[in-house]
Amino acid sequence: MSLRLGDIAPDFEADTTQGPIKFHEWLGNSWGLFFSHPADFTPVCTTELGRTALLKGDFEKRGVKVIAISVDDLESHNRWTPDIKDVTGTEVNFPIVADPDRKVAELYDMIHPNASEKATVRSVFVIGPDKKIKLTLTYPASTGRNFQELLRVIDSLQLTAQYQVATPADWKDGEDVIVTPAVSNDALEEKFPKGVTHVKPYLRITPQPNK
Ligand code: BEZ
Repeated sequence: MSLRLGDIAPDFEADTTQGPIKFHEWLGNSWGLFFSHPADFTPVCTTELGRTALLKGDFEKRGVKVIAISVDDLESHNRWTPDIKDVTGTEVNFPIVADPDRKVAELYDMIHPNASEKATVRSVFVIGPDKKIKLTLTYPASTGRNFQELLRVIDSLQLTAQYQVATPADWKDGEDVIVTPAVSNDALEEKFPKGVTHVKPYLRITPQPNK
């Protein structure tokens, strides 16, 4: 069965380009970004892993550990990563899980047989410090992901985990947010001292509380 939001991200043990890991132990108390790519030595994947390496500092600033996976073996990953540096100028500075027997890919339902019998699709799991899945995304092999969008979503996930707010369409860090319906009008002043604009009875806007 596929994994759903709020499920515990399955734990596993695997070899990676940075040594063997036990996934939950490796995550520790951090957030995690776990993403699959279809195969080593493929063009879109090369750009995606390079972009992720470039953005590693942005993920770290948010307390997010990044880890990739494909169903290739460790030897293949290790032959491929120098290409990523050649092409993108950045060393791959996060682990890539080797999963030649597809154990982890199957655990996370990353193989969609009607899209490809053998390769993982482009799955993304954002995992919270409680090890629960906070976000899933699935892209086809032909479409590279937008890693700025992943950072934007993580900003929203982390903010909404801390405050009783939600983020509107196309929201970016620093912009106004929506007060969740669970907050009564009586509690607004105490919870949102920067002020609340009542656009509709169900749509109440406030400046981002932690800025
Ligand atoms: C790619 O990463 O370029 C790719 C992988 C599998 C199918 C199509 C594209």
